[in-house]
Amino acid sequence: MANEATVHPRETETTPVPVERVSRSRVADQDLTQLGFGRVFADHMFLAEYEQGRWSSGRILPYGPLPLPPSITGLQYALAVFEGMKAHRAPDGRLVLFRPGDNARRFQRSAARLAMPPVPEALFMNGLRQLLREDREWAPPHGGGALYIRPVQFSSDPSIGVRPAERFLFSIFTSPYAKYYAAPVDVMVSDRYARAFPGGTGDVKPAGNYAGAMLADREAKEQGCQSVLWLDAEERRYVEECGVMNVFAVFRDRILTPPLTGTILPGITRDSVITLLRSMGHVVEESRFAIDDVFAAHDRGDLLEFFGTGTAATVTSVRSIRYRDRTIQLAPVAPDGVGGRVRDRLVGLASGRDPDPYGWVEPA
Ligand code: COI
Repeated sequence: MANEATVHPRETETTPVPVERVSRSRVADQDLTQLGFGRVFADHMFLAEYEQGRWSSGRILPYGPLPLPPSITGLQYALAVFEGMKAHRAPDGRLVLFRPGDNARRFQRSAARLAMPPVPEALFMNGLRQLLREDREWAPPHGGGALYIRPVQFSSDPSIGVRPAERFLFSIFTSPYAKYYAAPVDVMVSDRYARAFPGGTGDVKPAGNYAGAMLADREAKEQGCQSVLWLDAEERRYVEECGVMNVFAVFRDRILTPPLTGTILPGITRDSVITLLRSMGHVVEESRFAIDDVFAAHDRGDLLEFFGTGTAATVTSVRSIRYRDRTIQLAPVAPDGVGGRVRDRLVGLASGRDPDPYGWVEPA
């Protein structure tokens, strides 16, 4: 039975927007507990437009194609940013959100970095809550996954002029899934490509960050790995991120995660995991560490675990790290290891199972 006190009461009043509903929901065709990530989308989407300096209040319509010309700046010059968030079904059936205001504000920072008009937080939250009301049946049962939420903003200017755009679309759609990774991952260090560089866009979420990572990702997969471990662009020494995740290295005496110096995405899961690890008594430092230090610590027996954190991937353990001609195998992940325990704390909170002393969980 869910504890009512676990979900902090927040303002959930919404300003109704027009809704065009599907004639028949597709939800009964799915087993929501078995879905891989990102392939099935719920019935509806939210859509708002920005024109002449103003955002519309938006509307909800059936999820589906948007009629847009190929000249839009969103396609031509990658003026596009997105967010990743999740709604969970609590034990009593309610839908809960995890730190949604943090996503709304990071979305604004991403937009501002690409000279795009930020989506007001009230518009973001209003659209999100109303969309979730329409598609709540798409959230997997408690403990069986989550309803992933994808807010996206891009320029719909039909212009190939290279200048900041004037017309934008903001959409939110959702996608149920069970697990991002089925098992701990093998990762390959890329010293050929860089994900982010000082002064670039590594600390926000433009679509282009992910486009630039695709080739390295493919090369990692060709080498039998599921993900890329990124190093800093300048010296190619310091560990930065892992695929779609922030990283944590558990050394015998402390846990390190790279600091937010401009090339690292300020993950909301990262921030939550730092807080939770400290509350569990661990020493966590936001401090640079080199890939050579990781290998040396492994050789001394001082590298206990290595894991990634992210909205979609939650907390995912790394099983092996390949760097140049060497691969280190990490010890099999014990359920009572650091990663496993912090994952359980995080999921327990975010899914409304456990009391939330942080004010992170909100009714959808
Ligand atoms: C998320 O974890 O939500 C992300 O944004 C990564 C995504 C590209 C799967």
